[in-house]
Amino acid sequence: MNDALLRVTGLSVHYPIVRGVLFQRTVGSTVGIEDVSFTVSRREIVGVVGESGSGKSTLLRTLLLIERPSGGTVEYEGRSLFHATPSEQNEYRRRAQVVFQNPRSSLDPALRTERSVTEPLAVRGDVPVRSAQGAVTRALAEVGMETTTGDRFPDQMSGGQQQRIAIARATVSAPQILYADECVSALDVSVQARVINLLLDLRDRLGFAMVFVTHDLGVVRALCDTVLVLQRGRVVEYRPAADFFSAPTHAYSRELVDAARATELEPHR
Ligand SMILES: Nc1ncnc2c1ncn2[C@@H]1O[C@H](COP(=O)(O)OP(=O)(O)O)[C@@H](O)[C@H]1O
Ligand SMILES: [Mg+2]
Repeated sequence: MNDALLRVTGLSVHYPIVRGVLFQRTVGSTVGIEDVSFTVSRREIVGVVGESGSGKSTLLRTLLLIERPSGGTVEYEGRSLFHATPSEQNEYRRRAQVVFQNPRSSLDPALRTERSVTEPLAVRGDVPVRSAQGAVTRALAEVGMETTTGDRFPDQMSGGQQQRIAIARATVSAPQILYADECVSALDVSVQARVINLLLDLRDRLGFAMVFVTHDLGVVRALCDTVLVLQRGRVVEYRPAADFFSAPTHAYSRELVDAARATELEPHR
């Protein structure tokens, strides 16, 4: 496939196990992820699922260039990210945005909404103030928030509103790829459904791709085109979501699907 936005090949992250207080030495390593491969096309939403400790966050941190891989490659638009020049890496950081589980990780409590949402544009430096204001107003409208909320601090809003602001902040700079780590897990089910519909709607209108990490298969069913299942750091299943839900092949995937059926969340499309 030539139109892959992101191509991950054989990606591994090993964490050193360090012993000793005064004289530290590495006595071994823990697997974060091992030999992970997948691609993300434009506008594709890839759901990354697996139980706690399966490597979901490690994968995301590596794609965000926070963690250095022990092996493997990540190509963005055909260019290796880990061998890129600092300016190419910065360009990627502008094109990629992230929404965390807790909106408090994305929003500075001391900043009013408008400042929070403007910041990613200010970082770019190349956007004139007036068009930045236009973009912020548009981004707030797009997440269904009134411009007047621009004056508010995170504390003055509900969790669902905060998460919508975090999404406005992540989408204001027209990202090509949006990473999410459990970004709807902390919300009530009804708010969750609204945020999922918002993300689908934004994807259709703005055209970004997503890598969406969650332990919740109900969310995957409602949102994702493709499912990647991690178990102890390895990919055990990687298929279109429709196939995955109708007939999961791996025993571990079947367990996940059965467990999810027991706590069914309504599909939203
Ligand atoms: N900073 C770290 N240092 C050492 N080990 C880590 C670190 N982060 C994660 N791990 C280990 O890597 C594995 C995957 O963890 P993680 O990516 O957090 O999984 P998940 O997000 O699916 O819960 C686990 O065994 C975890 O203990
Ligand atoms: Mg995690």
